[in-house]
Amino acid sequence: MYNFNFYNPTRIFFGKEQLGKIDKFVPADARVLITFGGGSAKKSGLIDKVKTVLGSRTVFEFGGIEPNPRYETLMKAVEVVRSEKIDFILAVGGGSVIDGTKFISLASFYNGDCSDLLKFGFMPIPLDVVSKVVPFGTVLTLPATGSEMNHGAVISFEHGKFAVMCELAFPKFSILDPTITFTLPKIQVANGVIDTFVHTTEQYITFPVDARIQDRMAEGILQTLIEIGEITIAEQENYDARANLVWSSTMALNGIIGTGVPQDWTTHMIGHELTALFGIDHGQTLAIIYPAVLEVRREKKRAKLLQYAERVWHITSGTEDEKIDLAIVKTREFFESLGIKTHLSEYGVTKDKIPVIVEQLKAHGLTALSETQDLNLEISQKILEIAF
Ligand code: NZQ
Ligand code: ZN
Repeated sequence: MYNFNFYNPTRIFFGKEQLGKIDKFVPADARVLITFGGGSAKKSGLIDKVKTVLGSRTVFEFGGIEPNPRYETLMKAVEVVRSEKIDFILAVGGGSVIDGTKFISLASFYNGDCSDLLKFGFMPIPLDVVSKVVPFGTVLTLPATGSEMNHGAVISFEHGKFAVMCELAFPKFSILDPTITFTLPKIQVANGVIDTFVHTTEQYITFPVDARIQDRMAEGILQTLIEIGEITIAEQENYDARANLVWSSTMALNGIIGTGVPQDWTTHMIGHELTALFGIDHGQTLAIIYPAVLEVRREKKRAKLLQYAERVWHITSGTEDEKIDLAIVKTREFFESLGIKTHLSEYGVTKDKIPVIVEQLKAHGLTALSETQDLNLEISQKILEIAF
């Protein structure tokens, strides 16, 4: 196991009827900005409930944070924070609203051009660049990204999606009430299952470092998703199934399973380009790319693929290659069982776009991906051809 440094200060309130906790953890005299998306949280009455809990505090609203939140939209919220002297933000939404709120929180006290904050990628923004932020909490409405308990955000700017990490970007608290997610369209639930699955595998199917706890936690999340995936899509109000999805999503990307192990974010990096270029949902991009990554990288990932085949899919007979083949087939079939297509061509993208995607990877400096950093543009091209 590698050395690691683990820090996660986010307080979690999980379960039914937890909204009231907001009252205790938002300062009584705060000037609060509620951030939300395109309207689902208004329509469901959630924003009104949140405002009721906030009681006599001075409350402002900023709606319209779009999926794959855009820098320009978020900067409008930064203006509101600055002009209204907001001192607490409450994000009510999915990954996009929470990520957007992290950016608003980081940018509000930044004196320079805020697009500077998009240039650090996976390197955390140093605390001498951003030393003061607006504290924020979240009410999660979509289980998928883990953003409710991590310090990362993904922001759309010009023609790309940019990772932003900062130790000051952890939510102060997150309310995880599975019943709040019952209003989700089935497609978003399926996207969430796949996002959670691939977050887990990108920290698990790499190469062994004898990290037994992390491996078994990852296997536990994957098995849970396989058990509840179809049920939580078919039975929108099945509390137990949804509760297990919500906690799986949070646990998959709150840092715990990624401690002390190699990580491979190839699928996410290529997937982000597909979203930026063609507007394909984040979860769908992962369903397209991941089976192809496993196929192309089967030798590099051989030991962990065999472990995955045996422990997650219980494949115990056949040669090593047959086990790996079957594990890849089962992964693709699982994504498809959730109603998500796994080929790029099924999303209206034509083959002549593959070089365009590769060019975008190059333009964004994504030329040495994977746990061994030897996944170059040629290999990305091959992955895209198989994913087609
Ligand atoms: O905007 P509204 O009207 O709220 O509708 C949203 C949106 O259209 C809807 N929705 C959310 N909760 C709902 C609901 N509809 C009905 N009932 C509810 N309870 O769902 C749609 C998608 O929402 P979005 O927030 O975009 O989805 P998700 O949570 O999947 O977030 C995706 C974003 O997160 C980033 C992705 O790149 C993408 O930008 N990621 C963030 C990560 C992180 N911070 O750690 C890691 C991930 O890998 C990911 O990259
Ligand atoms: Zn993701």
